[in-house]
Amino acid sequence: MQERLQELKQEALQKVEVALDLKQLNEVRVAYLGKKGPITEVLRGMGTLSAEERPIMGALANEVREAISTAIQEKQDILEKEAVAKKLASETIDVTLPGRPVKVGGAHPLTKVIEEIEDLFIGMGYTIAEGPEVERDYYNFEALNLPKGHPARDMQDSFYITDEILLRTHTSPVQARTMEKHEGKGPVKIICPGKVYRRDNDDATHSHQFTQIEGLVVDKNIRMSDLKGTLEVFAKKMFGDEREIRLRPSFFPFTEPSVEVDVSCGMCGGNGCSICKGTGWIEILGAGMVHPNVLEMAGFDSKVYTGFAFGMGPERIAMLKYGIDDIRHFYTNDVRFLQQFKQVK
Ligand code: PHE
Repeated sequence: MQERLQELKQEALQKVEVALDLKQLNEVRVAYLGKKGPITEVLRGMGTLSAEERPIMGALANEVREAISTAIQEKQDILEKEAVAKKLASETIDVTLPGRPVKVGGAHPLTKVIEEIEDLFIGMGYTIAEGPEVERDYYNFEALNLPKGHPARDMQDSFYITDEILLRTHTSPVQARTMEKHEGKGPVKIICPGKVYRRDNDDATHSHQFTQIEGLVVDKNIRMSDLKGTLEVFAKKMFGDEREIRLRPSFFPFTEPSVEVDVSCGMCGGNGCSICKGTGWIEILGAGMVHPNVLEMAGFDSKVYTGFAFGMGPERIAMLKYGIDDIRHFYTNDVRFLQQFKQVK
């Protein structure tokens, strides 16, 4: 019996030694120390022993049990430590690795130009006004001195929704709406950026939908020279200090007198080249003194108040500023085109 116990001890310790993980170790525990294990078996046979032998054998059996159990506990500590170490090793973070780049988008070039123009006018004391894109015929035309049947309505082919409602063809209806809100009291000093719609065939310079920025100043003693000075500041800030502007007489039903405004060609410095078609000048916007009829219809006394208005197309401004040759680039969203403007402030 003594030999058998020593044998079992050797066997068990050997198995503890080679156990590779906690699972195997537990199997050893169950096998040798469990109720159905061989040591229990041996102890059961104690009944056949003499009274002197019994305590000796009992003590030995306990010692064997103790030895195996201690070995298992020690091994368990080692295996647990190993498991933690392994986990830590596999989860190590190398803080010296370069980070994964975060993809950053950029604002659309048109948005940038619009924001630049907005900033410029906000700096001159203007506020931003907005109006609906689905507009009433009244504000888009009538309140702007374009009664029904007026031939100049044809200058802007329109998308009508009903007889009285259309997609606005310009941002000028926001002038009429804003003036109405002022109930005959100045000053009014606004710019109105927004989308406009015209029944045009799309090509390199035309689009059925584009953007405009309207400007309007109404107050006592507003003169044509104020308009010219304002646009001069705008052109120089937008295109460069060396650029000049010139005003050409033109016609808009809602302004009198009306002008078309040119900026000197940045390509040839005004000498004439293919960009400016040999004239040295490039048209950038329409403007004029607010027509007395428009002031009156919006509730302003045209004997007390005068004003100027202008309307420009940010696409055109952006095309001139960045040398973009086709308006469709703004809307087809080719990332190769758009990415070029990422760095543009
Ligand atoms: N609304 C005009 C257009 O779209 C532009 C303009 C605005 C002209 C204001 C004069 C004054 O063509």
